[in-house]
Amino acid sequence: MKQTRFVLINASPKGEYSLSLQYAKYLFVHEENVEHTLVHVGERLTMMDYDESWLAETIEAIEKSDAIIWATPVYTMLVPWQLVRFFDLIKQKGRLSVFSGKYATAVMSCFHYYDHLAEEWLRGTCEDAGMSFIEGLSVDNKDLLDADFRKSMRFFMKEFHMACVNQIPVPRKSMPIVQGTIPIFEPTIITTDDNPKKDIKTVLLTDEYQKDGNLSKMIDVFLASYPNHVEVIDINTYQYEGACQGCLRCELVGECDRNDGFQTFYQDLVNSCDVLVHAMNIEGRYLKPVWKLFLDRTFANGHRTSMMGKHSCYLVSGPLGQVPQVRQFLEGKDRVGRENSMGIISDEVADSARLQAMIADMARRVDRASRAKYQKGVNFLGVGGMKIFRDLIYGMRGVVRDDHRFYKARKLYDFPQKDIKNQLFNVFMAVAFLFKPVRIGAYENMKPLYIAAHKRIVDSKKL
Ligand SMILES: Cc1cc2nc3c(=O)[nH]c(=O)nc-3n(C[C@H](O)[C@H](O)[C@H](O)COP(=O)(O)O)c2cc1C
Repeated sequence: MKQTRFVLINASPKGEYSLSLQYAKYLFVHEENVEHTLVHVGERLTMMDYDESWLAETIEAIEKSDAIIWATPVYTMLVPWQLVRFFDLIKQKGRLSVFSGKYATAVMSCFHYYDHLAEEWLRGTCEDAGMSFIEGLSVDNKDLLDADFRKSMRFFMKEFHMACVNQIPVPRKSMPIVQGTIPIFEPTIITTDDNPKKDIKTVLLTDEYQKDGNLSKMIDVFLASYPNHVEVIDINTYQYEGACQGCLRCELVGECDRNDGFQTFYQDLVNSCDVLVHAMNIEGRYLKPVWKLFLDRTFANGHRTSMMGKHSCYLVSGPLGQVPQVRQFLEGKDRVGRENSMGIISDEVADSARLQAMIADMARRVDRASRAKYQKGVNFLGVGGMKIFRDLIYGMRGVVRDDHRFYKARKLYDFPQKDIKNQLFNVFMAVAFLFKPVRIGAYENMKPLYIAAHKRIVDSKKL
């Protein structure tokens, strides 16, 4: 029987030591009539320089293949920069059509922290390139050790293989992005305050400054309306030695393995600023790739939510409404990090005067919120994300010591079993609830009892 030719693309910079790769390799162990070529994209694209001939060979291997399996870790709520860069390089070479008509799926290993955003991005990007993407597997570091899970993995591979062989039609999940929908932003003449205040330390991170694009003009409007001095940092200009290589030296030793000073630069930035403004261009289904490089490197600060209690906001240029996962990424980052983002404003607004007014208003709101030390409420994105971090750090507290100290000091270990009052309440109620009249009494009084304390505060107008 004819062998189906797969290319297994490993996006982890850890190469052969990648956990994701072990899962992907297992898929091939029991499946018959398959052959595969393994390409270590993550490892080969980690340094800023890369080997052109290697890229050409990889494109050739993809061309000759029937299907692709992406093996990738989740990095900073997406895939590693290296994989974003891989697509970008192929696009720059005008060779994206090499993917067209192929079947694809993904094996992602992670802690299930915003892994859905990574899969959405990968699926959408593959679909844009004309691939038939079949829902992949998102796995943790234990799944492969479980016999039942392995059985399901074998089933998954058989199904995927059959889909390739029989060329079954696969529904497209993402909508193609309609380009050219962003109006040119033409703000009116802006005058800047000559004497900005210096007491609120504000940093603006951007991938475009003082250029011709909308984003530069959005920044100008923001700066003119914001009453405090702002340090603008163009993240393109940082001399990155390379990408995050997933070595976890930052977690184990406390120091990043790279020698370009990024760890200190970033930690000084988030530890010292009061307000962090982000100005970002969208590209494809994410932001400009340099953001991914930058954000992956911020992992050197571990899982410490250093912006907690401070303030932030986002200016975005590009079709944000068409890539809701980018919005969710920004909102998730805000909610988990308790950054108190005062909003995301995109330039998908036809009326320049209105956009200008919105940016000016946000600039003044961020200043007021910072001075009032306003803290936003929480929601599912933040509570859910933080529970994953909490359990992860607590489970490894002997190893990830800086993170552990941070979580302990800020009382982020909010496990229900540590609430003694609640424990005693439940022991007492468990006994009392054995009796039906008690249960009926509770039912009859539940509504007023549940709001009693809150009502007292409202009624007494307590401050
Ligand atoms: C820079 C970096 C960022 C990460 N971000 C996430 C994340 O956003 N969500 C998640 O679930 N895991 C995250 N992880 C954990 C990895 O996804 C996980 O350890 C994965 O199994 C590593 O796979 P690999 O050995 O194939 O590289 C991150 C790890 C690193 C090093």
